[in-house]
Amino acid sequence: MTPAEPETKKSPYVTMIVLAAILIVVLLTCVPYLVTIASAEGRATADASPIFGVTIPPGYKQWELIAPAEEAAPLDELRAVIGNQTAIDAYQAGKLPFPDGTILVKRAWKRKQSPEFASATIPGAATTVQVMVKDSKKYAATGGWGFGRFINGKPVDEAQHRTCFACHEARAKARDYVFTRLAP
Ligand code: HEC
Repeated sequence: MTPAEPETKKSPYVTMIVLAAILIVVLLTCVPYLVTIASAEGRATADASPIFGVTIPPGYKQWELIAPAEEAAPLDELRAVIGNQTAIDAYQAGKLPFPDGTILVKRAWKRKQSPEFASATIPGAATTVQVMVKDSKKYAATGGWGFGRFINGKPVDEAQHRTCFACHEARAKARDYVFTRLAP
């Protein structure tokens, strides 16, 4: 029996207690983050369009204008088609098909008469946000485009998403399924 023996017996317990304490601290620190990440992912999928999984791109309201448009009654809307930098670069270079990473957004508003000027029309309530995302591999079955239509930030139903490609394909196939031309 040496005087050092009790110490060498005690130390594994001390080490275990210290490790357990560290583990508890690490867990307590991580759990809230993990919960936040999990719920954010849940939200992202809930806000993604059916079939395509397209979401509203962050910051799109600051994107550059490609062209305005107008829709006659019954919808009677003002619209603006805008694009991310990849889209704008492709438009300016007159490049077709659009490269992967292109995102086009169509914003739409009810028409409203200007309260200050009788003949002027201004945007009223926002109606839909429509998105086209180019990913030639992921969306190979629909001309390389993924579609999303959103009302109040929420995607519309699957039936509506089944109509997107058919109309764009029938009328704009020769222009990589995109109707809008860069406004002069
Ligand atoms: C019946 C035809 C039709 C259907 C269905 C349709 N679109 Fe379009 N889309 C158009 C037309 C026409 C334009 C040109 C801009 C305009 O006049 O509003 C357009 C433009 C767009 C644009 C701007 C880029 C471009 O091609 O000019 C996006 C984004 C878009 N549509 C998304 C969608 C989504 C998402 C759906 C399905 C939920 C959809 N569209 C269904 C006819 C259609």
